[in-house]
Amino acid sequence: MATTAPFTRVNNKLQDKVTIITGGAGGIGEATAILFAEHGARAVVIADVHDEKGQQLAESIGTDRSTYIHCDVTDENQIKSLVESAVNLYGRLDVMFCNAGIFSSSMHNILNLDMAAYEKLFSINVSGVTASVKHAARAMVEGGISGSIICTASIAASSVADMYTDYVMSKCAVLGLMRCASRQLGEYGIRVNCVSPGPIGTPMLIKALGVSNQEEVEKAYESHYPLKGVLKVKHVADAVLFLACQDSEFITGHNLAVDGAFKI
Ligand SMILES: NC(=O)c1ccc[n+]([C@@H]2O[C@H](COP(=O)([O-])OP(=O)(O)OC[C@H]3O[C@@H](n4cnc5c(N)ncnc54)[C@H](O)[C@@H]3O)[C@@H](O)[C@H]2O)c1
Repeated sequence: MATTAPFTRVNNKLQDKVTIITGGAGGIGEATAILFAEHGARAVVIADVHDEKGQQLAESIGTDRSTYIHCDVTDENQIKSLVESAVNLYGRLDVMFCNAGIFSSSMHNILNLDMAAYEKLFSINVSGVTASVKHAARAMVEGGISGSIICTASIAASSVADMYTDYVMSKCAVLGLMRCASRQLGEYGIRVNCVSPGPIGTPMLIKALGVSNQEEVEKAYESHYPLKGVLKVKHVADAVLFLACQDSEFITGHNLAVDGAFKI
């Protein structure tokens, strides 16, 4: 009988890794930034448009290994410069979490879809994620890094909805991007995956539902989970960490649902 464990699991799953998180100042991105730091990341670069929160988070992690960089993901040049800054500061890029996103601005269906709102949402949720994957992948290829790229999709991408058409469409596009990029980047050793959370009480959903806090969002959804409890940002951050680190070294092109078998 073997006297040692057959698998090695380490606590510092991101030891020495340089990471970027877009939309890192709040919600899922914030929880992931903290978890990446707890797992020994050499650098956690927080990219967002919410400067005060992003700066505070970087300071709370420690400015020796966390930096806040203002980056509006609707502007490809800002994403290019974000990735260049991270590589200049820390020498390489190992993990890119393309997470910045917004929700539909109205409860529309196709008959009353506002095209201006649709374009704004797509510029963040689709173009922003696409340019983030592109520039992260370029830096990894140039640096010879077998990196990991993770994008935040949603259970919305795998459902049929009576409303929120633009959001559902945008998350379907993220899945398509992830699948193509995973195939195209495999030869460089770069993995590309998605996490697809169910509804969570982050600022995005608090605003979308017009409620005042996280608990109200959780109350609205608790009966939808067969599992006891409700989905928290921690659960998503754990899944992102798994996809970011070596524990998932042969997983690419995968959409990892983090939804507790949510029933719509
Ligand atoms: N909360 C949910 O129920 C839920 C469910 C499934 C998927 N998601 C997805 O998770 C991701 C994170 O959302 P969240 O729930 O943590 O929301 P959140 O609002 O708490 O966080 C989103 C972050 O993105 C930032 N952001 C918005 N526009 C940006 C831009 N143009 N450039 C850079 N940063 C920008 C915001 O400032 C914010 O810090 C999004 O892609 C969202 O679609 C959320």
